Amino acid sequence: MDRLRDALKGVAKELAKAITPGMTLGLGSGSTVAALLEELSPLVLAKAKTVNGVPTSTQIEMVAARCGINLVPFKGSVDLVIDGADQVDKGLNLIKGGGGALLKEKVVMGSARRTAIVAAENKFVGRLCDNGVRVPVEVLPMARESAKMKLSMLGGVPEERLMPKGYPYFTENGNVILDTLFEPVDDPTSLEVRVKSTPGVAEVGIFTFKPITVYRLGADGNYEVLQSHD
Ligand code: A5P
Repeated sequence: MDRLRDALKGVAKELAKAITPGMTLGLGSGSTVAALLEELSPLVLAKAKTVNGVPTSTQIEMVAARCGINLVPFKGSVDLVIDGADQVDKGLNLIKGGGGALLKEKVVMGSARRTAIVAAENKFVGRLCDNGVRVPVEVLPMARESAKMKLSMLGGVPEERLMPKGYPYFTENGNVILDTLFEPVDDPTSLEVRVKSTPGVAEVGIFTFKPITVYRLGADGNYEVLQSHD
């Protein structure tokens, strides 16, 4: 774990070089982005730069505020989004939404001039859904049963996300999440489109945006940079 943090520090140093004064960052959610912000913000602020950040959840908003990042409203685009992922496939497609922030994460990433994803090496697989990782699907509460039926027709096995004591989990947008298991995915873009077209689905946690830069954190303390070709 400490060595992963060393790898993350290396990524923070590299990203800091790319952040220029007045830039607006899109801030993804989750523990990796939180740790990255802790490493990145002192480096950037030491150079007396103002870092503006658009948060995608209350979790990262609180971390960013603590790190001295100037939180700004989303005005339609960001210069660079930094985010984590639950799974990364060989084509640098992602599963996201383990923390329930997928809807805002997709809006912000979809507006970004550049995208940087940071993920530990154990999240890298050949195909999305390898190892039984489920795809989070954010759904309007009234559509939970109809969406479950549609997702089953698409070959998925949906399971509503619950809180530890069994209460339904609600996203910050007031929706529920159906964590859906699919067979390992050969065509992520097609699955993303098909799930998204299900009535009541607000967003699906398959992210296929390109171009994208992915930083793969190694347990040996080093990191590798993977760049999409399209
Ligand atoms: C938040 O909803 C997610 O998309 C996160 O980016 C993803 O779950 C990765 O989180 P960790 O960095 O905590 O593993």
